[in-house]
Amino acid sequence: MDLGLRGKKAIVTGATKGIGRAIVELFALEGVDIALCSRTQEDVETTVQELRRHNVNVFGQAVNVRDGEAYKAWLQSAASALGGCDIFIPNVSAGGGFDSEKNWTKNFEVDVLHTVRGCETLMPHLEKSSAGSIVIIASTNAVETFGVPQAFNAMKAALITYAKQLAQHVGKKGVRVNSVSPGPIYFEGGSWELIKGTMPKLYDYALRQIPCGRMGTPEEVARIVAFVASPAGSLMAGSNVVADNGFTKRVQF
Ligand SMILES: NC(=O)c1ccc[n+]([C@@H]2O[C@H](COP(=O)([O-])OP(=O)(O)OC[C@H]3O[C@@H](n4cnc5c(N)ncnc54)[C@H](OP(=O)(O)O)[C@@H]3O)[C@@H](O)[C@H]2O)c1
Repeated sequence: MDLGLRGKKAIVTGATKGIGRAIVELFALEGVDIALCSRTQEDVETTVQELRRHNVNVFGQAVNVRDGEAYKAWLQSAASALGGCDIFIPNVSAGGGFDSEKNWTKNFEVDVLHTVRGCETLMPHLEKSSAGSIVIIASTNAVETFGVPQAFNAMKAALITYAKQLAQHVGKKGVRVNSVSPGPIYFEGGSWELIKGTMPKLYDYALRQIPCGRMGTPEEVARIVAFVASPAGSLMAGSNVVADNGFTKRVQF
């Protein structure tokens, strides 16, 4: 199936590791020009070099998305460097953590505000595109009770609601908005590797919830994100796609 991605321009936040890294790799393979960031300049440079092997234009610059002004300037530079933006994937998260006011502020500023600022800043570019599309990376932690109450879970829920409502609002301008909610995704250096080492009981519990007994990979999430973001997914707007290998137990109507 041709996803219709060739020649499109995508801006992806947090794309030097894990799911974000797998998304930009797949986009580059599909002929998409890419702008990416993380906080670590060295990792950004390495990723940019690796992606350029696929003969696409790649713009990369380190930025902390929590710094609103620096982040908005980065988004404008990214859109200028690419000559527009067809696809936006806000992927950065402040991650989970036991509840404290510090976590609530961090998850609000990073997960929620970086997504909202990104959508607002890039909307004029997305509206000009013939295939404007936003895929917000949420989490299954938003849709079912998991572990202890966490700001991460609640802020991801906010993102799913935001995606739905934004889809209604900008659909008339030709921009599609969806969210993808991964279940546990395992990769070297990722949160589940850390949990496996530090909280083995939680790791084993999560694994037991997955019928086939294995966590997902970043590449599996990337394939779903690429489809939803692409012109091939043109019928999808306002959907939250759960990608969790059966980890969650609710019936989705
Ligand atoms: N892994 C899972 O099991 C899982 C499950 C459900 C949902 N998700 C969601 O999927 C997304 C990606 O998670 P992941 O686990 O693949 O990767 P991750 O370990 O969270 O890292 C993501 C990327 O974001 C960058 N980053 C982190 N904070 C940043 C900031 N403030 N500003 C700019 N860049 C920043 C990281 O590089 P630097 O550290 O160098 O900045 C890295 O490139 C997140 O939204 C996460 O909540 C993940």
